[in-house]
Amino acid sequence: MQSASAPKQLKSVNLMSAGPKPFVQTSGEIWLNGQFVEVGQTSIPILTHGLHYGSAVFEGERAYGGTIFKSAEHTRRLKNSCNLLGFDLPFTFEVFEQAKRETLSRIGLQDAYVRAIVWKGSGGLGVGTGDNQVNAAIAIWQMDPYFNPASGGLRLDISNWRRPPPDCAPVKAKAAGLYAICTMSKDKAATRGFDDALMYDYEGRVAECTGAHIFFCRNGALFTPKADWMIDGITRASVLEIAAKRGISVTEKTIMPDEMSTYDECFIVGSAVEVVPVGEIKGQAFAPGKLTEQIIGDYGKMKYGRPY
Ligand SMILES: Cc1ncc(COP(=O)(O)O)c(C=O)c1O
Repeated sequence: MQSASAPKQLKSVNLMSAGPKPFVQTSGEIWLNGQFVEVGQTSIPILTHGLHYGSAVFEGERAYGGTIFKSAEHTRRLKNSCNLLGFDLPFTFEVFEQAKRETLSRIGLQDAYVRAIVWKGSGGLGVGTGDNQVNAAIAIWQMDPYFNPASGGLRLDISNWRRPPPDCAPVKAKAAGLYAICTMSKDKAATRGFDDALMYDYEGRVAECTGAHIFFCRNGALFTPKADWMIDGITRASVLEIAAKRGISVTEKTIMPDEMSTYDECFIVGSAVEVVPVGEIKGQAFAPGKLTEQIIGDYGKMKYGRPY
């Protein structure tokens, strides 16, 4: 047994380069509580409430051609997520929007991933957050496509974890704590050779993936689970907007697992994920087709503010 006076030598781990593809900002500045700080100079105390108890909310956004896509919608949702967890975004909407724009411009990227996060910091470290300071940060980095699916589309596992009911969790908040089951589902899917996992909701209905909403297609029409117990997806709303403009019928409905076999095409959508075809949900095959291609093409234009 290791004695207290002879601490075990810890192997140094470079978290910045963990994994095959760095998925983190490694240089440039981070906006932290109103200041710009070099990423290498940033640190947070170990005794941070958000780290121990999940008192944190975040947004994942993308910038295209130097403009953050649907930035206001993301900031509004971030503010709402804070409120659902019982605190306030510690900056006004306008200041936060300006901070995101300025961070992007200082990073100097045209196309990038934007991560905004708000968390309860150090102070007391009991379950209650007390008056621990609320912190906010914005980090921006270059990000390749989230998925690089084979031409047949993504392969989805089905998670054993279910999305929680609305009386068991603040399901409309993009709260860090709610991602524990997404992370476990995603990791398990990866170890089983899948790209991602589909999650059912607490009543066994088709819900969403670990970081994306899901759409199905049949006879030129779109079908998607109602978002009653999920975050209000910004990309999902974009797809509904595209469909309305194109005159494509969309039905938001309860989708039970055995109904999935009645659809021909399937795709998933999210700010990081964008729009990606699905080729299989645990043995159930889908053939990415014209409607999926149409939505991918239109979203590709919409995100750059081009007409479609
Ligand atoms: C669990 C989950 N569902 C859906 C989405 C898609 O939401 P949005 O399109 O707003 O990024 C995300 C992405 O943030 C997510 O994490």
